[in-house]
Amino acid sequence: MNLEWAVPLEYLAAVVVESGTWHHGLMARWWAEFVATAEPEELDYFRAAIRKFGEPALDLGCGAGRILIPMLAEGFDIDGSDVSADMIAEARALAAKNGFSPGLTVEPTYELDLPRKYRTIYMCGVFGIGGRREHDREALRRAYRHLEPDGALLIANHWFPYGEGDEQRWARWLPGHRADIPRDWPSEGERRTASDGDEIEMFFRLGDLNPLLQRETLQMRARLWHGGQIVKEEAHDLHENLYFSQEILLLLEGAGFRDVAVEGGYTGQPAAPDDGMVVFVARRPV
Ligand SMILES: C[S@@+](CC[C@H](N)C(=O)[O-])C[C@H]1O[C@@H](n2cnc3c(N)ncnc32)[C@H](O)[C@@H]1O
Repeated sequence: MNLEWAVPLEYLAAVVVESGTWHHGLMARWWAEFVATAEPEELDYFRAAIRKFGEPALDLGCGAGRILIPMLAEGFDIDGSDVSADMIAEARALAAKNGFSPGLTVEPTYELDLPRKYRTIYMCGVFGIGGRREHDREALRRAYRHLEPDGALLIANHWFPYGEGDEQRWARWLPGHRADIPRDWPSEGERRTASDGDEIEMFFRLGDLNPLLQRETLQMRARLWHGGQIVKEEAHDLHENLYFSQEILLLLEGAGFRDVAVEGGYTGQPAAPDDGMVVFVARRPV
């Protein structure tokens, strides 16, 4: 269906920040308000990883600090970096609220250039976002350069294209099965009340899926409601390169990593064919 928007899409498209991701503006606030808490199994996993591979650690694509802040609270020496200044501002505010002032930088992974070297670098739900494969390759090279010898890079929360077990979604890879893309916008968004009483409403849809390029575009539109009126609207696209396991292994090897393990979910155990979400654990050789 066609939604009525106060601001024409053409104008919104013109003001969209071209980072290839949608984690700006109202979406950054959404993350800080409603996606702020990590699952206990995630925290257990990253805590154990930093203990195993060592400090300092870098949360690459740290977002609003969902994992970073709990790791700081554990006492770890950990920095954060993200392409989105809005996400970093949220992380900084949350860190300050908890009495921390971590090293935080606004930088895309593929331009990472920090003065420190790390023993553990992890990316959680970040790899592939942005949509340019040369950026993904360069991100791995940069991560490698920022690791101490014997340090580890973890590509965590990596979902395979078939990973959610959603047959309808997977069927869209088949020839002739993409006529409904771009999908219609949902008639109602997901509307939630923020801490200051304003409401944020989010609409999401699949904008494009190209099996040849293994790339999809997800689109979102957001509304900010204040006193029952829409006071702001935003639109952002998220482009994502879709990677299968063997491709990431090749990319990691190409960047210089060795002894790469693929773990199923956050179990720490070798991945099985039915695992939809995995963690790649790659070592920089001594
Ligand atoms: C799904 S969120 C995950 C945030 C955080 N890792 C977490 O688990 O809560 C993805 C994050 O990756 C960031 N991001 C996307 N592309 C990036 C890039 N090229 N360089 C650095 N950060 C990026 C986004 O801004 C966003 O904060």
